[in-house]
Amino acid sequence: MSVALFNGEFLPLESVRISPLDRGFLFGDSVYEVIPSYGGRFFLLDAHLDRLARSLEAIRLPDPLDRAQWEEQLTALLHHNGAGAGAAEGADGPPPDLGVYLQVTRGVAPRDHAFPENPRPTVLGMVSPIRPLAPTVREEGLNAVTRTDDRWGRCDIKATTLLANVLARQEAAEAGAAEALLLRDGRLTEGAASNAFVVRDGTVITPPLDPGLLPGVTRGFVLELARRAGLPVAQRAVTDAELRAADEVWLSSSTRELLPVTRIDGQPVGSGRPGPVWARLHADYQAAKAEATRQPPEALSHE
Ligand code: PDD
Repeated sequence: MSVALFNGEFLPLESVRISPLDRGFLFGDSVYEVIPSYGGRFFLLDAHLDRLARSLEAIRLPDPLDRAQWEEQLTALLHHNGAGAGAAEGADGPPPDLGVYLQVTRGVAPRDHAFPENPRPTVLGMVSPIRPLAPTVREEGLNAVTRTDDRWGRCDIKATTLLANVLARQEAAEAGAAEALLLRDGRLTEGAASNAFVVRDGTVITPPLDPGLLPGVTRGFVLELARRAGLPVAQRAVTDAELRAADEVWLSSSTRELLPVTRIDGQPVGSGRPGPVWARLHADYQAAKAEATRQPPEALSHE
């Protein structure tokens, strides 16, 4: 049974009780993060905590904890789930790779759209396993479909108000696809739960940051890896036509890392196989992850 962090306490996830008056429940008045850890060590934790701070500021909710307190509580959450840093390799094998889901709501108050006077934020943290990349994905890539991006105008805030994303992802699932690529006014924004990249003539291209998409932590790291690899990189608009004519298309997110898309709306992308630029950056990502979490690459099941 997994252990949750609930307002500073650690308890079995099943015994967490959220009030029906919690504004996260009533209004989706809350923000969140999903933070990966490998073998008991967080990966890119600072970037996630920076973004959490920006999301809280954007919704005008005072941060309930300071940086050191967040680090302490999140690290303790890993420990409680058998994935402490330096945890001994037990009978169950090495510490698991876990994604931490962290949500901060504006807390419990009588239902009223306007903020309560003195909000007492609700903090929930819970973990789920990070699954290794399936060999079929590595060899064949994933299907995606395109959908109209009809979300609100502040998709740069990592808010839990995700109904449009949920509907888009469900439509993708019903079409046998792993992700919905969202298009606004004929331009790619991102995936329903991922950022998107295209490769054209060797250049790695991703839409520029603006309020229409999430500044993904993985997106930023992949751009950094591409620059380190000496690849040409561009942050610019990607039209619907460019998306369909791309040599490669990728998705990025913290728990699914970098994924190749090889079919869009049933049509092959480029050669119809995961491309060489993806393979290079996927390998670089595994190496960076191994180094940052101080493990030999072969100990990582994602290699
Ligand atoms: N989602 N765009 C959207 C809409 C997302 O929901 C996510 C991640 C991303 C990628 O961001 P990052 O690289 O920081 O994970 C982009 C998380 C994983 C989720 O909702 O589960």
